[in-house]
Amino acid sequence: MSNDSAPQPALEKLADSLQQAVNGIFQSGGVPGKKAKNFLNGVWLGHALHPVLTDVPVGAWTTAVTLDLLSGADDKSELAPGADAAVGLGILGAVGAAVAGITDWSDTVGEERHTGLVHMLLNVGGLTAYTLSWFLRKNGQRKLGVVISTAAYGVLSYSAYLGGDLVYKMGSMVDHTAWDNEPGDWTQVMNAADLPENTLHKVEAGGEEVLLVKQGDQVYALNSTCPHAGGPLDEGQLEGDTVICPWHGSRFCLKDGKVLDGPSTFDAPLYQVRQTAGKIEVRHVSSH
Ligand code: FES
Repeated sequence: MSNDSAPQPALEKLADSLQQAVNGIFQSGGVPGKKAKNFLNGVWLGHALHPVLTDVPVGAWTTAVTLDLLSGADDKSELAPGADAAVGLGILGAVGAAVAGITDWSDTVGEERHTGLVHMLLNVGGLTAYTLSWFLRKNGQRKLGVVISTAAYGVLSYSAYLGGDLVYKMGSMVDHTAWDNEPGDWTQVMNAADLPENTLHKVEAGGEEVLLVKQGDQVYALNSTCPHAGGPLDEGQLEGDTVICPWHGSRFCLKDGKVLDGPSTFDAPLYQVRQTAGKIEVRHVSSH
């Protein structure tokens, strides 16, 4: 499952425990817990919050290692205060990035979960090392502090590479409907009389799976693939004029495809619907 080797039982057990703990915290929080999870996933932002926050420690710690190299880890260098401030700023940013990252990771499975756990453990180790470095710098052991933070920078660079694998190789928090743009023209999908009321019904149109829901005089149509990780919305749950994904609970409005609850940070692609001669026709309308 992993890109390098099979997952190890100890890591899988740790992943199970951590995911249960994280999901338990959000679920026990009720509606505020749900809102907090939506915020940390980045539902309000329109894409994942975690990579935005990682810019802070990456930038701050790159500045710190540069100033450390230029100052030669000399306490009396005029560059030393700047390096220490950058270490401290990076620690603050890394805490925020870690909280958002573990929230995204709590909904992963398989290779994505395994690589995400290794990424997380390396980052926690790096954060701990930078925190230790900061205390050493403030307590007269600057050279040792610089050695530790420089080594941690190397470890975190590898961890960032794994973060790239998570996104670009495994598609973590990437829109799983990004290339679903068909059908562009009106396409017949079924007899209008055969579509039951208040039921999640999947049809095929132009090579895409489309979810149809009839409510009164209205027929709504969304892409049947959940943008979060590709879950089948047609196997989800209908709640009022929303549909809830069966895999991780993302909720979408049937009327406009808007994501209302994460972990998806993307809307579900919307289709126009019309009836012609007793047939339901759809065409893709939303753009990414
Ligand atoms: S696939 Fe994760 S919420 Fe739908």
